[in-house]
Amino acid sequence: MGINLSRLKEFIETGKGKRVLHLGCNVRDLGEGLINVDYARFPGVDLLADLDQPLPFADASVDGIGMAHVLEHLRYMRFMREALRILKPGKRVYLVVPYYTSHAAHIGEHVTPGFAWIAFDYFQQPNHPFHAFKVCSNRIVFRGKLKYLNPLVNCFPRFYDKWLAHLLPAVELEVVLEKRA
Ligand SMILES: C[S@@+](CC[C@H](N)C(=O)[O-])C[C@H]1O[C@@H](n2cnc3c(N)ncnc32)[C@H](O)[C@@H]1O
Repeated sequence: MGINLSRLKEFIETGKGKRVLHLGCNVRDLGEGLINVDYARFPGVDLLADLDQPLPFADASVDGIGMAHVLEHLRYMRFMREALRILKPGKRVYLVVPYYTSHAAHIGEHVTPGFAWIAFDYFQQPNHPFHAFKVCSNRIVFRGKLKYLNPLVNCFPRFYDKWLAHLLPAVELEVVLEKRA
């Protein structure tokens, strides 16, 4: 699938006594220290759970959440509310989602067919319920030969999003959100 999950651990602090979730893990083993969750019984899954339902974790009990190419399968506003509930204040969610102009964003089983750079912008608005999340990073990602465009496009993400995204479709968006303390 070509998803860069090694970056997950750069964003999410793992370690002894930390409860860090890797949601929609599939068969991906990212190493020690993560709780692998999926609703299908893949090898390496630690917990079977439907992420479209209330998450089986207590309020403010989780130290980090990582998920790649999963949010688009979910009713994502509902999921974000649950993520907010279970995260401890100051802790982060690391998301990789398909870019809305990528053809792979539009496969049938996706509930939300891809995300634009501005998709998480409204989290910054003080009156929005998700203002409880701070957007720490929001990065457009190209892969293969086009990866050299990453630094340039991320200097002008709004311009790219509006004028160039259909001409030169990015593959993914990497987003890091932090629950405000
Ligand atoms: C496109 S795969 C991505 C897998 C992996 N994260 C990766 O990057 O390769 C989506 C994964 O999310 C899981 N998934 C989809 N909807 C789910 C749900 N409602 N609850 C739990 N897992 C779900 C699927 O079983 C699958 O393993």
